[in-house]
Amino acid sequence: MSAKTQEVKQAFLDALSKIEKMEDLEKIRVEYTGKKGYVTELLKEMKSLSHEEKKTFGQEVNVLKNEVNDAISQKREELERKQIELENSLMPEFDISMPADLKRGSYHPITLVQRQCEEVFKSMGFAVEDYSEIVTDYECFEALNIPKDHPARDMQDTYYLENGQLLKSHTSAAQNAIYKKYKDALVNEGKAIKAIFPGRCFRNEATDACHENTFFQMEGVMVDKDISISNLIFFMKTMLSEVFQKDIKVRLRPGFFPFVEPGFELDISCLICGGEGCPSCKHSGWLELCPCGMIHPRVLEEGGIDPEEYTGFAFGLGLTRLAMMKYGVKDIRDLNSGSLKTLSQFTDDK
Ligand code: PHE
Repeated sequence: MSAKTQEVKQAFLDALSKIEKMEDLEKIRVEYTGKKGYVTELLKEMKSLSHEEKKTFGQEVNVLKNEVNDAISQKREELERKQIELENSLMPEFDISMPADLKRGSYHPITLVQRQCEEVFKSMGFAVEDYSEIVTDYECFEALNIPKDHPARDMQDTYYLENGQLLKSHTSAAQNAIYKKYKDALVNEGKAIKAIFPGRCFRNEATDACHENTFFQMEGVMVDKDISISNLIFFMKTMLSEVFQKDIKVRLRPGFFPFVEPGFELDISCLICGGEGCPSCKHSGWLELCPCGMIHPRVLEEGGIDPEEYTGFAFGLGLTRLAMMKYGVKDIRDLNSGSLKTLSQFTDDK
């Protein structure tokens, strides 16, 4: 083999040994066997050779060309094999004993409704806050104008931990922290406090078609100068009409909660029975969806906000109720049951 051919062969072998990717392999294939490749170029040198020399050199180059092509095919197979091995190693192990008709998972109806509400409120400039499920007595009651031994505590019996903390009985337990977080921006920069905070709540109560010991709420607050009940009604109507994609009927009744004054119960007509009466609406035709009201001055004060200067509204939207109405779930217990029969109905609803 001539020195020149030997040199090209060696350079090729060196380059090939460093190849790890398919694209690089293709590059050196072109570099060596392409129209202007090193191997092809060798043939051009034949011009200056004698007839006899041409014959041997030509054969030599052809042999080299075949060797190069074979080596490239081999390398290609090797790279493909490695790729498959890599993909297999990344595949989750699967259990052959699982039922064969597994479908895609889905979001829980409450999650779906929660996200829809969040989107609507975000579009109206509300921040979405997260809050713990275990809270203190202060957060859940005292900061909300419900002192120890106040009879209003009977409305919300919950589960207590041995250290005195408790599972929050309502999302209002986050109000105090929210006021404290945003009060400086309110006072110094004139930025209204607008926040919603969804969360899981717990109450020690007997369950039936419309009561659960574990349920979801979404609290919302807005505090600024000159906030009134009209602002509250506007936000609630806008949000509910968006969620249900139609103008829904609402009514406000007076309601008592120590942390709002005045306080209301916002009801919407039962979408399951259309107002006729069914177990979900306790045969009244209305569903209690959203207690609300103007934030009590003491509650603002406790959050570090001067009630002489600022007012605000708060509401506690029943996300679980909302999901039941939106999706026609008749029994609240189905939502916590983990039953795939109930949940799989929501697979296609993103
Ligand atoms: N936290 C109250 C409850 O769960 C609801 C509520 C929230 C009432 C905000 C008024 C204002 O019963």
